[in-house]
Parts: sequence; C-alpha cells; structure tokens
Amino acid sequence: MYLLYRCYHFLLKSIVRFIGIPEPRLYQGKQGLDDAILDLSLPADTQVMVVTDKVLNELQVIKPVLEALRARNLSPVVYDQVQANPTITNIEQGYQVYNTHRCEAIVSVGGGSVLDAGKLIGARVVRPHRSVDAFSGLFKVFKTLPPNIAIPTTAGTGSETTVVAVFNDDKQNKKLAAADFCLVPQRAVLLSQLTTTLPAKITAATAIDALTHAIEAILSINATEHTNRKALEACALIFTHLPIAYQHGQDLDAREKLLYASFLAGQAFTRTSVGYIHAISHQLTARYGTPHGLANAVLLLPVLHWYGSRIHPQLAMIARHCSLTSLDYPVEQQAQDFISHITHLLIQLNIQTQLNEVLSDDIQSLAAMALDEAHPDYPVPHFMALPDCQHILTQIRA
Ligand SMILES: [Fe+2]
Repeated sequence: MYLLYRCYHFLLKSIVRFIGIPEPRLYQGKQGLDDAILDLSLPADTQVMVVTDKVLNELQVIKPVLEALRARNLSPVVYDQVQANPTITNIEQGYQVYNTHRCEAIVSVGGGSVLDAGKLIGARVVRPHRSVDAFSGLFKVFKTLPPNIAIPTTAGTGSETTVVAVFNDDKQNKKLAAADFCLVPQRAVLLSQLTTTLPAKITAATAIDALTHAIEAILSINATEHTNRKALEACALIFTHLPIAYQHGQDLDAREKLLYASFLAGQAFTRTSVGYIHAISHQLTARYGTPHGLANAVLLLPVLHWYGSRIHPQLAMIARHCSLTSLDYPVEQQAQDFISHITHLLIQLNIQTQLNEVLSDDIQSLAAMALDEAHPDYPVPHFMALPDCQHILTQIRA
C-alpha cells in the first residue's frame, strides 16, 4: 500500500516540477499597495470588490486599502460577511454582491479564511454554472480568475501564495478544499501596518502555523532545493522576529519580516504539501473548533519526537541554517539543538502544551480521520500507523 502512496507522491512532484505553480507578483509596503492597484490596469470608476470580515471592517483595518483604491479613482464595494471558516453561503453571497455591483476585480483583505473566500468568489465569477461544492478537489476551476489582489492581515496561512482554498459546506457540515493553480492570487501585498493590531497570542499562534508549514515542507519527500531555500529562510525569519513581534506588537520591521516568512513558507508548502501535524490538527479544529495555529503548536513537538532520528538530517539542516547550533557538532546534536530551540520558543510564547478539549473517547476516530487525510495525499518522510497517531493524541490530552 505504501508503495502505491509513494507512486502518487512522485506523480504530484512531477506535476509541480513540469507544469510549475504560478507565483503571485509580490508587493510590499504602502508604495507596494499603490503599485499593485495600478497593476490591475482598471479604467476609472471601475467597481472593485473588497472581500473582508466584519471585525476587520469595523476596526477600520481595511481603511488604507479603500483609500488607496479611491486614490486611483476606483470604487470599492465592500463584502464583509466572511465567517471564520468561509461557508458556501458566504461565497454565494459574495458572488451575488460582485454581480449586482458589476465588479471587475477582487481585493481580499484578511486572514486565511477571507483570502480563501476571495479566491472562491473569483472562481464562481469565471465558472457561473458550477456550484461552489463542485470546486472541491483538484483542478476543478481551471480558468483564469478576475484581476485580484490578496492582502493578508495575519502572518500565518500563506493563502496569498497557495493553490488551496478551504471552505465549509454549511448544509452538510463538511470541510472541503479546492486546489488549483489558478487559485494562486495574481498579486500579493504585504502591508505590515495591517497586522499591528493583532493580539500577541494570535501573533504567536499564526506564526507557529507558518513555522509548521516551513518545517513540514522541509520534511516532505517532495521537497526540492527551491522549496528548501524558501522554507529555511522562513524558519530563520520566524526565529529572529517572532519573539520581537510577540513582545512589541507595534514593531513594523518585525511584523514585516513575519509576513514575508509566512509568504515564503506558503510558497514552499504549496509545492510540497504539509504532513501529519496538519493532518491531526485539522481534525481538532473540525471536532472542537481549536484554532489552527494553536493546534499545530501543540502537535509540533509530539510529531517531531515520533519521527525521532529518522528526521535528524532535516532538523539539523534547519538548526545549521538558523544558527541554532554549532557546525562542529554531530547531526544528532544539531537536531537536538533544534528541538530545544522550539521547546524554549513555545515556552517564551506562553503556548500551552496540551488541549483540554480532546476527549479520550474521540481519540480513535480522530486518529483514523487524521491518517485518512494524510494518506496518500501528504508526502510524509515516514508513514504513521494508527496506534502511533492515537498515542500522540493521548499525549496532548490535558
Ligand atoms: Fe497551516
């Protein structure tokens, strides 16, 4: 069975290598925002849909984006009903707003949920006869989206550069994911001033999500020199700047570096896929509503410990690149230095190591569903058996 999985992983790697995943044009800072809007090449008075959520709209986080659009004589139309996990209803509502106002472009400003909703509204625009649930799976959109810009307000999901959009079927209570090269946003703007209002706890959890993307990208057997370069740079930026952004939320330089790290990690994992940390974490979010970043942070060390010496070369490589160890040490010691650094970082960020919500009666089904998600889709370096997954879930139970 595992041999078949490996054949599938090789096929995935070949698709990525030979077709190539598009990259968004990257813009940074206030000037970058203006340049990205100019790059939309829209005539004056064009209606531009701004996708966001209610909180970001009420806190006026989107204000600089609205002002920049108006300064270019464009007319923003705000749709702010995106929920924490965007639903099919959200996407349909957004699509109706787009049509009613005859919008011609989409600017998404928000966390991963908002950016994913923006992608799917765009997909609906170019596929008006296809229902949202029909986008679930691989290459179900396959058509260029309307002109778009993705502007993340958290440094974590990397959705501004990934091929994936996750959504909820609110009628069947199912989590679905669409993956298609055309879902990669055409432009990404990293604007650190939009992230300064994030509370320290969310800054920490979202950045650990980005760190997990980078680590799982490096562990993937589909990792390449290209993805490793990006993931390693993401790790280094997070290790240096996360403690600063956590302590000093207004530090624009640290915020900017975290946004860039998240972008790089997104570019890496969208080519390699994620691994068991995400596979298990997704089940906790679906079952208990555990925030994604927190679930990853709690699972990070138990999963790395389960791999043990089998991933020492990769962990040692990160430790060397991020100057967490001595180049003279043997690989085992370098890997151990990496684990120690993560352990201290999680303590420094006051991240809990266990989750109250995990019930012992649920462990078997959670483990089965996690492995169901991981196999065969995630090109993990070693395969996990059901008892091992159950053991990890038992470990994180408070
Ligand atoms: Fe994630």
